[in-house]
Amino acid sequence: MNYTAKMLRDDALKGKTIVVTGGGSGLGKSMTTYFMELGANVVITSRNLEKLEQVKVELEEKTGSKCLALACDVRNIEEVEAMHQKAIETFGKVDVLLNNAAGNFISPTERLSANAFDTIIDIVLKGTKNCTLTFGKHWIDTKQKNTSILNIVTTYAWTGSAYVVPSATAKAGVLAMTRSLAVEWAKYGMRFNAIAPGPFPTKGAWDRLLPEDIRDKFDLAKKVPLKRVGDHQELANLAAYLVSDFSAYMNGEVITIGWR
Ligand code: HXC
Ligand code: NAP
Repeated sequence: MNYTAKMLRDDALKGKTIVVTGGGSGLGKSMTTYFMELGANVVITSRNLEKLEQVKVELEEKTGSKCLALACDVRNIEEVEAMHQKAIETFGKVDVLLNNAAGNFISPTERLSANAFDTIIDIVLKGTKNCTLTFGKHWIDTKQKNTSILNIVTTYAWTGSAYVVPSATAKAGVLAMTRSLAVEWAKYGMRFNAIAPGPFPTKGAWDRLLPEDIRDKFDLAKKVPLKRVGDHQELANLAAYLVSDFSAYMNGEVITIGWR
C-alpha cells in the first residue's frame, strides 16, 4: 500500500464547484489539483493574481478541468463578496468553500505589535468568517442544499502553542466556528468539517516557521510519533473525501492528520 496513492474513484467530484482560498500555493494548490483531477471546477483565490493565473493554466492543462483565478484578500468583506459573485457568474453555483488561506510567523509574543497580532487574526479568523458568512447566507437565501464548508486549522488549535500565539488564537476560533455552525446551519443542508494537519512541508510555512538558521535543529519529522512529515496527497485525499458526497453524514468533525 502506497500512502501517496490517490484515494477516490474517477469523477468523484464531477459537477461540484469548489472555492479554495489560498489555492495558488502549498497545501491549497495540492488540494485544488486533486479536486480538479476528480472532475470539480475550482475557483482559486489569494492576494497574488499573477501567481494564481499561472497555477490556473498549469492545472487546467494537467487535469482537463476548469479553474477560475480571482484576486481576493479575505480580510476585506467587499472583495470576498465580489469573488463570490464572480464565481457564481462563471459556474452558476458554488457547492463547497475551503477556508485554507492563512498567515503566520514565529515570534515571542512580547515583541508583537498590536497590528502584527491583528494581521494574523484578520487573515485566519476574520477571513474565515467573511467567507463563511458570504457563502452561507447565499446558500440559505437560495435554499441550495448539499453544500459544505471545510476549514483548515492546526493541531495547536486545541492545545495552544508558544511563539505562534496569534495563529493559535485564531485557529481555535475557527475550530469553534466549525463546530458551532455544524449544529446551527445543518438545517439548511450545510455541513461543516475541519482538518488539523501536523507538519506538511510547504514553502509558506517552512520559510516563516523554520527559518534556514534553525531548520537543522528542529527536525519536525522527529516530533511526530510516526517519525515523518506528511505527503501532500495524504491531505488531498482526506480533503477530497470531506468535500465529496461520500462524507454526507459527517458534520462537525475535525480530523487530525499527522500530529506533533
Ligand atoms: C513579528 C511581524 C512579522 C514577524 C510581520 N510582522 N512579520 N511581526 N514577526 N515575523 C508585523 C509587521 O511588522 C506589521 O506590524 C504587521 O505584522 C503586518 O505586517 P505586513 O508585512 O504589513 O503584513 P502583510 O503584508 O499583510 O503580510 C501578512 C503576513 C505575511 C502574515 C505578515 O507573512 C504573509 O503574507 N503570510 C501569508 C502566508 C503564510 O503566512 N503562510 C504560512 C501559513 S503556516 P507593524 O506594527 O510593524 O505595522 C500556518 C500553520 C503551520 O498557518 C503549522 C505548522 C506545523
Ligand atoms: P501557504 O502556501 O503560505 O498558504 C497560505 C495561502 O494563503 C497562500 O496561498 C496565500 O496566498 C494565502 N493568503 C495569505 N493571506 C491571504 C489573504 N489576506 N487573503 C487571501 N489569501 C491569503 O502555506 P500552507 O502551508 O500551504 O498553508 C495552508 C493552510 O494549511 C493554512 O491554513 C495553514 O495554517 C495550514 N496548515 C499548514 C501546515 C503545514 O505544515 N504546512 C500545518 C498545519 C496547518 P497569497 O500570499 O498569494 O495571498
